[in-house]
Amino acid sequence: MSFFENTRKPAGFGGKLMVVMMNLGHSPVAWWGLHFLELAPDDKVLDCGCGGGANIRRLLKKCPQGIVKGIDYSPVSVEKTKKVNETAIADGRCAVLQGSVADMMFADNWFDAVTAFETVYFWPDLPRCFRE
Ligand SMILES: C[S@@+](CC[C@H](N)C(=O)[O-])C[C@H]1O[C@@H](n2cnc3c(N)ncnc32)[C@H](O)[C@@H]1O
Repeated sequence: MSFFENTRKPAGFGGKLMVVMMNLGHSPVAWWGLHFLELAPDDKVLDCGCGGGANIRRLLKKCPQGIVKGIDYSPVSVEKTKKVNETAIADGRCAVLQGSVADMMFADNWFDAVTAFETVYFWPDLPRCFRE
């Protein structure tokens, strides 16, 4: 497996390195995208393909009374996201689930907004994932 396959599904030591790199390297485009997103302070947001969790941390800042959840099918991504957001998780404002965006178990209409940064091009069956 090449190192860059860790962009699709971070795994092992290379994956751990990749999620750190994603948190840093994706920052400029994430900030650019986030500045278009109007959120209420108490909104509930889902971040799909959350990677290293940096965008969940940013979303929690935009919604200081809200809840932000993340989903990612990589155990390495889930572990890093939990570490980056451990205080919010302890406060009950954040939860991170391991699973595919093609088949999510969240209740319908629970979230006010759903985000996905630098991940949709990896998803199978886009119409299905967007319906989810
Ligand atoms: C390039 S990283 C982007 C991570 C983060 N969103 C960011 O902007 O830094 C892509 C992430 O999407 C996740 N991913 C790709 N396909 C997925 C799927 N079908 N379901 C859940 N997560 C997926 C990968 O595991 C990886 O963590």
